Amino acid sequence: MGSISRAITEFCLDLYNKLNRNAEDTNIIFSPVSISVALALVHLGARNSTAAQIEKVLHVRKAAGGMSFGPDHGSAAPGMDTELRPERQPSLSQCNKDEDLNHKAFQALLVQLQNLGERYVLSLANNLFIQQGFELQQQFLMCAKELYGAMLQTVDFHGAVEAARRKINTWVESETQGKIKELFAPGVIDGHALLVLVNVIYFKASWQQKFEEKKTVQRDFKLNQNEKKPVQMMYQKGRFKFGYIEEMGAQVLELPYAEKSLSMIILLPEDMADGSTGDLGQIESTMTYENLILWASSEHMSETTVEVYLPRFKLEGTFNLNEVLQEMGMTDIFNESKADLSAMSFSKSLVLSNVVHKTYVEVNEEGTVAAASTGAAIVRRCVPLTEVFLADHPFLFFIRHNPSNTILFFGKLCSP
Ligand SMILES: *[C@@H]1O[C@H](CO)[C@@H](O)[C@H](O)[C@H]1NC(C)=O
Ligand SMILES: *[C@@H]1O[C@H](CO)[C@@H](O)[C@H](O)[C@H]1NC(C)=O
Repeated sequence: MGSISRAITEFCLDLYNKLNRNAEDTNIIFSPVSISVALALVHLGARNSTAAQIEKVLHVRKAAGGMSFGPDHGSAAPGMDTELRPERQPSLSQCNKDEDLNHKAFQALLVQLQNLGERYVLSLANNLFIQQGFELQQQFLMCAKELYGAMLQTVDFHGAVEAARRKINTWVESETQGKIKELFAPGVIDGHALLVLVNVIYFKASWQQKFEEKKTVQRDFKLNQNEKKPVQMMYQKGRFKFGYIEEMGAQVLELPYAEKSLSMIILLPEDMADGSTGDLGQIESTMTYENLILWASSEHMSETTVEVYLPRFKLEGTFNLNEVLQEMGMTDIFNESKADLSAMSFSKSLVLSNVVHKTYVEVNEEGTVAAASTGAAIVRRCVPLTEVFLADHPFLFFIRHNPSNTILFFGKLCSP
């Protein structure tokens, strides 16, 4: 599982950098594990350089720059596999024939994540909606279902795009317990679409140590040097893993969720003496896989009494990932003259039209959104050996599955 969590983290950082480029003051939230799984699903149907590019984007390609496609590829005459040879009996062992992307490892991770226990809600779902008329390979259908729980559905983008849109939205709404409605607004899906990959994740959990609602008070959140905004600031004092990254001037706090299988890790730049907020950019530019592991490792943090101030927040993020994935190197799959999805469908003309990702995360005292409450003003005492973690300015956070060290969500909160 180690290499897969590393690959997901590397992918997470690449994607964050892309999404963050023009979003300095914007909230960001996405789920690297969810998108990785979705792309791995598409990879099952891809061949040749189309597949190799996905491996590269997902950081699962072993030979750097190597162009070998493994023993199953490369030597066959064009179209040989799909047209002349009678189709083999579908079998699970055929799902994992690529050397670099270990589909079984992804499946194992999914199984682990979907059995987190009663105190978590984590729904993670992928579906491929394909234009009717494209005949799908039985082998692909079986692997997609067995390994990724994905059910392909045919829709008629060409003839009835509005009905297709409603069908996709209805599926998303039911998979996310009603939390994500109208994934696609009217008019967003193109009537020329052939294959639309929809990937959703919904997460809800309660803290190991809940915040008391009566301690939540309105406080200012500094959006930047000049602007503030009142937020509902939660408060609690407790024993938490806490660390300080000297070279970044940033605090790290781990807030565990129930049963400690998952934690939220928050990276908070220090407030400057001049009243300006700390520099998120510096953390962002030094954020590598190694640093992230180091900063958030139990060795680096120690259990301390911490006064935690954290705004209540709800984040929703929708991304059409077509453009960023192409920038990251996945170009062939979107290009009609290059896409090789021959393991998915017999048709040569299949291309990927859209990759859409939507995330919804809700953070509050209990796990349910309560009306704003006003409580007594908090008196800050100067108790020795008590750290203060005051998240009243932009910070980065991620939600980690601790046993596998996998990043489920990664986000930046600029404005609660
Ligand atoms: C895969 O790539 C090889 C080598 O570039 C090529 O000969 C073959 O035709 C391709 N396979 C398909 C199904 O396009
Ligand atoms: C698709 O690939 C062809 C052949 O390499 C190229 O000429 C064309 O510009 C590409 N199309 C797009 C939309 O990138």
